[in-house]
Amino acid sequence: MWEDSRENLFANEPGSQKRVLDAHASPGEDESEKTLRPQSLQEYAGQMRIRENLTVLIAAAKERGEVLDHVIFSGPPGLGKTTLATIVANEMGSKIHTTSGPAIERSGDLAAILSNLEKGDVLFIDEIHRLNRTIEEMLYPAMEDFFLDIVIGKGPAARSIRLDVAPFTLVGATTRTGLLTGPLRDRFGISYRLDYYSEQDLATIVMRSASILGVGIEKDAALEIGSRSRGTPRLANRLLKRVRDFSQVKAASVISLKVAQQALEFFEVDELGLDWMDVKILQTLTQTFQGRAVGLTTLASSVGEDPSTLEDVYEPYLLQRGLIMRTPQGRQAMPLAFEHLGVALP
Ligand SMILES: Nc1ncnc2c1ncn2[C@@H]1O[C@H](COP(=O)(O)OP(=O)(O)O)[C@@H](O)[C@H]1O
Ligand SMILES: [Mg+2]
Repeated sequence: MWEDSRENLFANEPGSQKRVLDAHASPGEDESEKTLRPQSLQEYAGQMRIRENLTVLIAAAKERGEVLDHVIFSGPPGLGKTTLATIVANEMGSKIHTTSGPAIERSGDLAAILSNLEKGDVLFIDEIHRLNRTIEEMLYPAMEDFFLDIVIGKGPAARSIRLDVAPFTLVGATTRTGLLTGPLRDRFGISYRLDYYSEQDLATIVMRSASILGVGIEKDAALEIGSRSRGTPRLANRLLKRVRDFSQVKAASVISLKVAQQALEFFEVDELGLDWMDVKILQTLTQTFQGRAVGLTTLASSVGEDPSTLEDVYEPYLLQRGLIMRTPQGRQAMPLAFEHLGVALP
């Protein structure tokens, strides 16, 4: 249930080394991801506005002795949503209960989760846009007024009982707020959208991770890794580990810029950090469609990807880097994409 379905799809793909950059490996796949996860706002790099904002809101809630308002984090995979959920609980001094939208199948599941909460606890629901409708509607009164109506029995004998829920903070994460229903979105008092990280912030993250892993790395090498991480901390950490493997085999005691470059070249990491699906999308737009605008569903079926994944996961980065654009007619490759792939402009 935690696994991103893409992960399974690609698991058996014959070994493209670009897989080192796959943004979507499930969090559980990588145990050390937990070790590298910042535990406080202080340790969390980048996302300045969100950090400053949360610092104030958390301090204020604590001062008033109140629970923090419900929070939703949205943004592409690997940018730090789960990390922030943990940090919110840590900073509030609260216990965190973690689940995910698809894991809550029945109303009884939700009732069990909610009745286990104590005052001030954080309930983290990952992939909250994937909650089913019935569960979602049960959640509304729990979020607003801290009670739950559950129906017992069926037909004429059915009756509804009301359960009180301890005041809690719901923290939700989603790849795109657009996927949430209006009523659910409206019930979050605090909403943040995570952006891709700058190379500097990624370098900071790489330096921090290196010190946790006990690996020596020079600043310019960290920047090199940061610049090829697709703006994504999860990928930056993963690349750091591959570079570490390479430097270990080459018996380099410290990862220098030269070692990092050799390693990245060895693993065929694109200068923009694009993964093989990104490249496939660009090839399709530049070569198959020769720069013409293509509808989302057509593009999705050409590359063998689900349209919503294409839209939530791949498109934002390609748009941000100016490699593609969205027109009323569809998605279109920009000159930079042709240049990057070395394809002549039509
Ligand atoms: N701002 C950050 N500072 C340092 N490390 C981060 C940051 N954001 C994410 N990470 C690292 O990236 C990994 C993926 O983050 P995660 O919170 O699981 O992303 P998401 O839930 O958005 O997919 C974590 O293991 C964490 O170590
Ligand atoms: Mg997550």
